[in-house]
Formats: sequence, structure tokens, C-alpha cells
Amino acid sequence: MGQIASATLALVTSTFLLAITVTLSACGSGSGGTGIVGQSDSVSSTSSSEVSSVTSSSVNSVSYFDEVPEGYPQLPAHFPDPKVPESNPLTVAKIELGRFLFFDRNLSINKTRSCGDCHQPAKAFTEDKALAVGITPDQIHARNSMSLTNVAYNAGFNWANPNLPDLERQVHGVLFNEAPIELGWSDVESQILDRLKEDTTYVKLFNDAFFDASDPFTVANVERALASFERALISGNSAFDLFEAGDKTALSQSAQKGKELFFSEQLECFHCHGGFNFSQAVDHEGIVLNQLDFHNNGLYNIAGNGDYPANNTGLWEFNSTPSNMGKFRAPTLRNIALTAPYMHDGSIASLDEVIDHYARGGRLIAEGEYSGDGNLSPYKSELLAGFILSEQDKAHLKSFLESLTDWVFICAANLQDPYGNHPMHNRCAELNF
Ligand code: HEC
Ligand code: HEC
Repeated sequence: MGQIASATLALVTSTFLLAITVTLSACGSGSGGTGIVGQSDSVSSTSSSEVSSVTSSSVNSVSYFDEVPEGYPQLPAHFPDPKVPESNPLTVAKIELGRFLFFDRNLSINKTRSCGDCHQPAKAFTEDKALAVGITPDQIHARNSMSLTNVAYNAGFNWANPNLPDLERQVHGVLFNEAPIELGWSDVESQILDRLKEDTTYVKLFNDAFFDASDPFTVANVERALASFERALISGNSAFDLFEAGDKTALSQSAQKGKELFFSEQLECFHCHGGFNFSQAVDHEGIVLNQLDFHNNGLYNIAGNGDYPANNTGLWEFNSTPSNMGKFRAPTLRNIALTAPYMHDGSIASLDEVIDHYARGGRLIAEGEYSGDGNLSPYKSELLAGFILSEQDKAHLKSFLESLTDWVFICAANLQDPYGNHPMHNRCAELNF
């Protein structure tokens, strides 16, 4: 296990450089692989005539990411091409339909909740509650809503689910899950689709997005459109990115010192939050190995047994090998300053506390039902040895984490809520995007 883990780590460490190299050849080459929009949509093609398929391949002959229209975040030059499934080529019409669906509370059976309520643009597509609440207020989700920053690159989804290979299947779960109920589609999907059909805006949006389908209003097409919107959530334009691209004024001295700490063997952060996305488990065009990996970072050690609270055991929930206890995916740290509270259960309130958590090498819970010292957990990752930092160095590390905020992404006009329930971040006006 130790050997395999360190071999994986070596690979992960080198990914940052590798990703940059892959990008240079993959981006803008027009060879977007499965991302090429001209491929006919295999599901809706049943009703397509020859004429419409000819039109579709000539009109949409380039990958969305080769020519991102204004109002959407561009694919940065140092990012690889995201993978796009052949069954769901990425088009602007689908992204736009997906945006309306994403922010529409009519998408939940009792009209109380939209995806965008838990994933708000001003908070990098998460929310400020520790634990999510779906359409049934008495049933609180065990986990914290995740940021959707760069989800197009995830090799896995959710805090610890090893069985979700793509966004389409992740969305299916959100619509149909019953424990907890998120949007409540189970057995009532035709009722919700009928609701959408009655809205003239949706008639146009569905027909534009799935122009060769005889009836575009299907569950699969709702899932395709939502996944398409999510693939447009590209974020790689932070101060850190500008600095790496050569603008030496983009990072303050403090953030530059924090960057050195982040990438040091003393702190080890980059081993798990590495590569272009500051995360683990990325997948993209041209990748050699997609690393779906999970770690226990010493948040709990109930009664000294290494246990996590029963409703949040991480990977163990899917495979009860003891060493899977408390293992979660290391999420992206891009836009992390906007996504508090932190961790799978929202149990850490601020970035200062996150830094203290890692400095201690695990969390001490002195009393109560979860008491125990995470630092002594038998399942804790060996990379969490703890470290001593001056208050000044902690502030530098925090400045660096703050430099990963990407206002071009947060303020992108075409990623905002069309219904106005979640206004754009108030800094956007001042930044003039
Ligand atoms: C009630 C709040 C809530 C709603 C509504 C909601 N989500 Fe989430 N979302 C969450 C939570 C909580 C998680 C983490 C789930 C877990 O780990 O079990 C999550 C995780 C995700 C992820 C995984 C992100 C990653 O990096 O792995 C995606 C993608 C996602 N949601 C998309 C959606 C979409 C699309 C919708 C609407 C169809 C939606 N969510 C509706 C709370 C919500
Ligand atoms: C052993 C791998 C590992 C190392 C090393 C590591 N992390 Fe993490 N990090 C994780 C995992 C796994 C999670 C999610 C854990 C959970 O929710 O239980 C996480 C969560 C976080 C979060 C919260 C993310 C969110 O969206 O809520 C932040 C912030 C963070 N880490 C920063 C850091 C910093 C800063 C360092 C270096 C001091 C670091 N990490 C080192 C694996 C690691």
C-alpha cells in the first residue's frame, strides 16, 4: 500500500508540468477528440433527416472550446481540453438551455429548490450553509454543497463517490435520489417535463438545443443540457494564472511566499491539491492515467478507532475495507476563498482554521459524541504529518489561496442566474467585467 501510494504521488506531483505540456499540443489544435461538436447526437438522431445531420456537421464543425463565445469563460492556454462524451456534444444552445434549467426552481417537484440554490455563482457555485438542504427541509443532507469550479475535469464526482464517471450520471442522481431527496423526480418525471413543455421559453430552448429530436423534452436531454452548462464552468484566470503566464505584478509578495509554502515538502499541500486544477482526480483529453484517489485528512478519530460519524464515512460507505474509513476526494482549491464553510461536512468555518487543521496534522475534538484526536487516527494520510508555521507565514499561505479566485469566471455574464434569485457577486460591478 505504501509503495503504491508513493508511486501514485510521484505521478501526481509531475502532473502539473505534464498538464502544461499536454495542453500546448492539445489546445487550439482543433482535434478536440470527443469534444467535436459536429458529431451527431446519437440519441436524438433517430428522427433526424439527412438534411439536418448535414447542417449540424457543417454549422458546428469546431469544438466549443476552440471558439468560446463572449460571455463564457475561455479555455486558458495552460488547460487541457476537457473530455466531452460522444453522446452529448457541447453546443452553446445546450449550455444556454442548461443554464435556464440549472437556476429554475420548477425543476424540483415542489418548486422550492434549484441546482443554483445550492450552487450559487457568487460563491463559485456552492453555498454558505455547512450542510445542504433539499426540497424536504426536515431532511438535511449529510454533506456540504460542492463548488462546481472546473467540474468538466473531474475524474469522479461528489465528496467520495467512486462510481460516477461523468456529469450526466451525477445529474441523474441529483434528480432522482431519494436519500436524501434533492430535487424529487422519482416517479414524477413526466409531470415535471409537462411543466417545462408549457413554458414557451423552454419550447424554444429545447428545440434549439435538440433540433433533430421529434420530442426534445426527455429526462436524458434535461441531463445532457445540465451537464453541458456545467462543462462551461471553466476557471483558470486567477491572479495566480496571470502570474504563471508572466505577469510578475499579479501576485503580492505575500502570495508569492504563500505559493512557495504551498508547493513545499514541508506543507505537502500540492501532493493532493496539485496540477492545473489544484485537485486530485482530474480527467481530460490526452491524459495517461486518471487519478481517482481518496484521502483521510484526520478530521475525526472517534473513540480512537479512526471512525468518522456514521453518516459520513467517505469511501468506506462504498467499500468497507477498514482503510477506506474517512477517505474523501481532495477537491479543487480554485476559488476556495469564496466557498466557505469547508470540508465534506462543512465543519471548518474559515481558511485560517483550515490552515490550523493541517498545521496540527489532524483535528482534536475534546468532547462530545465525536471526541477523539484526528492527529492520532490510524487511517490518516501519512502526508498529514503537521508543521509549524509563524503567524506571518500562515497569512502568506492564505494570501496565496486567495489568489486562486478567478473574477472572470465568477462574473461571466452567461453563467449567471437568468431568474435573478442569485445576483452576481457584488465585486463584479466594480471590476467592470
Ligand atoms: C440541496 C442542495 C443541492 C441541490 C439542489 C443540488 N446540489 Fe449538487 N451538490 C450538493 C451536495 C451536498 C453535493 C455533494 C454530494 C455528496 O458528496 O454526496 C453536491 C455535489 C454536486 C456535484 C459534484 C461536484 C464535484 O466536484 O464532484 C455536481 C456536479 C453537482 N452537485 C451538480 C448539481 C446539479 C446539476 C444540480 C441540479 C440538477 C444540483 N447539483 C443540485 C447539493 C446540492
Ligand atoms: C493527503 C492529501 C492532502 C493534503 C496533503 C492536503 N489536503 Fe487539503 N484536502 C484533502 C482532502 C481529502 C480534503 C477533503 C477532506 C474532507 O472533506 O474530509 C481536503 C480539503 C481541503 C480544503 C477544503 C476544500 C473544500 O472545498 O471544502 C482546503 C481549503 C484544503 N484542503 C487546503 C489544503 C492545504 C492548504 C493543504 C496544505 C497545508 C492541504 N489541503 C493538504 C487532501 C489533502
